[in-house]
Amino acid sequence: MIRSVFKGSGSALPARAVSNDELARLVDTSDEWIRERTGISNRYLAGEGETTGTLATEAARAALADAGIAASEIDLIVLATATPDCTFPATATQVQAALGCTGGAAFDVAAVCTGFLYALATADSMLRTGLATCALVIGAETFSRILDWEDRTTCVLFGDGAGAFVLRAEDVPEDGPGVLATRLHADGSHRDLLYVDGGPSSTGTVGKLRMRGREVFRHAVTNLAEVLEEVLKASGFSAADIDWVVPHQANLRILDATARKLGLPAEKVVVTVDRHANTSAASVPLAFDVARRDGRIAAGDLVMLEAMGGGFTWGASLMRV
Ligand code: ACO
Repeated sequence: MIRSVFKGSGSALPARAVSNDELARLVDTSDEWIRERTGISNRYLAGEGETTGTLATEAARAALADAGIAASEIDLIVLATATPDCTFPATATQVQAALGCTGGAAFDVAAVCTGFLYALATADSMLRTGLATCALVIGAETFSRILDWEDRTTCVLFGDGAGAFVLRAEDVPEDGPGVLATRLHADGSHRDLLYVDGGPSSTGTVGKLRMRGREVFRHAVTNLAEVLEEVLKASGFSAADIDWVVPHQANLRILDATARKLGLPAEKVVVTVDRHANTSAASVPLAFDVARRDGRIAAGDLVMLEAMGGGFTWGASLMRV
């Protein structure tokens, strides 16, 4: 059977690390409050010359090097972001130009923190149906540029970064590697709980992120537990078969609550929110890349990727590495 097989990953972070203590000098907050409520100690913030496009390109280059695949072999780039460099062209096309690959398609998808799962599902469908043969799937964000730095309830939660996967369509046996099952959801009726108050066609501005954190928390735990069960059912595996869960890194308490609901031991959950904070669409591939490079995620492992974000959108995908 033809599956989208994982070939390599890469990630990129801005040069500047910002601790909670440093943030506490800008807004009325404390290291203790941020760590207790979110698990976050540090985040990286983009500086001059660092954009979603430059971070995405660096992550893509690292993923290609990891995969041992030349940029010329890539005939699809799907980039998930809510913070593109420009309204258009798509940031994916900038990455394509920077990598020097000219064949195939390149476009962005917008599903906020679930963006990487939406991008992965899109690339997986295109690879399995023969629309492409070798894809870069990227999550990249510079949320620091849409934060209200005077709103302590949101600005302490987010960071910037990028992560990328290389996937190739390959004929594999039933028990072989590849993306095994994916489920995606959206419910636009919850827009007001998490949104940006501007855009090109409404205000003509970029806007700032607004969130009602408590309500988001409650929905996140319920929705994530449900979609994880759906993906397990669709794939025929049980929670006990999973080697690693790579969740969207929003908040340590959401990660813990979701794992508990599914009966998954905390040791199987990859956590990077402490050092990267919430990097939206970048967080899943960024966390995955960290766990692969430190030797936790290995070839043959069964890995569950999951995310929930603005919209609301949410989804999960099970992959054999
Ligand atoms: N520093 C210090 N105090 C703060 C801060 C801060 N940065 N932010 C809020 N407070 C204060 C509030 O003003 C409030 O004070 P009051 O009691 O005097 O009114 C108090 O802390 C409690 O505020 P709450 O908003 O009720 O705090 P809560 O315990 O709900 O924690 C948090 C807030 C961390 C945002 C939590 O609701 C949460 O984790 N929500 C999930 C949302 C999330 O992670 N979203 C990320 C994007 S969505 C996604 O990726 C899934």
